Amino acid sequence: MQLKNKKILVGISGSIAAYKAAHLVRLFVKNGAQVKVVLTPNATGFVTPLTLSTLSKNPVHSVLFNSETGEWTNHVELALWADLMLIAPLSASTLSKMADGQSDNLLLTTYLSAKCPVIVAPAMDLDMYKHPSVLANLQKLRDNGNQVIPAEKGELASGLDGEGRMAEPEHILEFVKDFFAGTQTWAGKKVLITAGPTYEPIDPVRYIGNRSSGKMGIHLADTLAARGAEVVLVCGPSRIRQEYDSIQRIDVETAVQMFEAVTARAADMDCIICAAAVADYGVENPATQKIKKDGQIPEIKLVKNPDILAWCGANRKKGTIVAGFALETDNEEENARKKLEKKQADLIVLNSLNDPGAGFESDTNKITIFGKEERRADFPLAPKNKIAELIVNTLEKWFIQ
Ligand code: CTP
Repeated sequence: MQLKNKKILVGISGSIAAYKAAHLVRLFVKNGAQVKVVLTPNATGFVTPLTLSTLSKNPVHSVLFNSETGEWTNHVELALWADLMLIAPLSASTLSKMADGQSDNLLLTTYLSAKCPVIVAPAMDLDMYKHPSVLANLQKLRDNGNQVIPAEKGELASGLDGEGRMAEPEHILEFVKDFFAGTQTWAGKKVLITAGPTYEPIDPVRYIGNRSSGKMGIHLADTLAARGAEVVLVCGPSRIRQEYDSIQRIDVETAVQMFEAVTARAADMDCIICAAAVADYGVENPATQKIKKDGQIPEIKLVKNPDILAWCGANRKKGTIVAGFALETDNEEENARKKLEKKQADLIVLNSLNDPGAGFESDTNKITIFGKEERRADFPLAPKNKIAELIVNTLEKWFIQ
């Protein structure tokens, strides 16, 4: 099951090879992938949505807007769902529209919204496939970061014999498996991530908390799971869900519970990333009954919480990578480097509260990463899921390769 948990969005355009796409969808499903299908309006003449929905076990989409039901297909959601978009067969017409950035059908709008890698498998007649404008469009697609599975030689629908047949479904399957294998840079590695805020109870209804959403840590968990890591996510109260079912999520509330969940598992880990906004102080003796306002003004005594990152830095087994975050408002670099040393971490991700668009409740972040021996990497403002990729890329570059 080499494609287990992989989400593949298959785009089918109008070509006689569309019938082979049905077999391809079946192969993906048999290999453990989750498959969704989008068709161009022309493709529905070659293969029926019913065949494809039966094989993919998911609804099939072919129109942007259904005038009968008044429903709109959310192409952005489809595009974001996928780990990979595969367009097979790719007709000359869809190719040209993709190269031009046109968006007059669902497949094209989905393609333009896709953040995941895109692979295409062209299918054309011999002379079309060799035409300079087709070759130029294929090159344009490659230049835009898409991968092309070359057409194969053989008998064509026109009766001619030559290059232009869509690659056989078995060959496309192998290409896709190799593609995913190449992205599995964390296969066999165990990673523990802390995320979210902690809540420190004052009484059964009140707590001391903070504004952390958990987004950064959860995106890191998803990014690492996508790259093959076995991920344990120790998460404070956060409404955000991870995308990958393979992630083991342990929900905790207080800093002490987070500390216990981490220390019990740390010895097994190849990498520990502390992204949680842990409350530095908890309440010494939380009241067991709700504190009433008719009594004396209560005094709350705080006690220091354990520092999870510092514990991980000091108690790691040999070879475990330890990474943390620093949120600073002044002397950013100096404070981040101090934290790196004090907590014996290998890497500190600095968020400066001085940067507009960075911080707790924002969807974006701006980071600088510091490592030992004056290592430093600066990045521009980016969405938090992109930031997670940048952090994981840096971990790979500095510690794994
Ligand atoms: N951290 C932790 N446990 C704590 C406090 C912090 O694991 N009890 C981790 C955070 O997850 C983060 C890093 O330590 O990775 C930095 O936390 P931060 O609160 O910025 O630093 P502090 O050590 O608390 O220092 P200060 O608040 O004085 O800046």
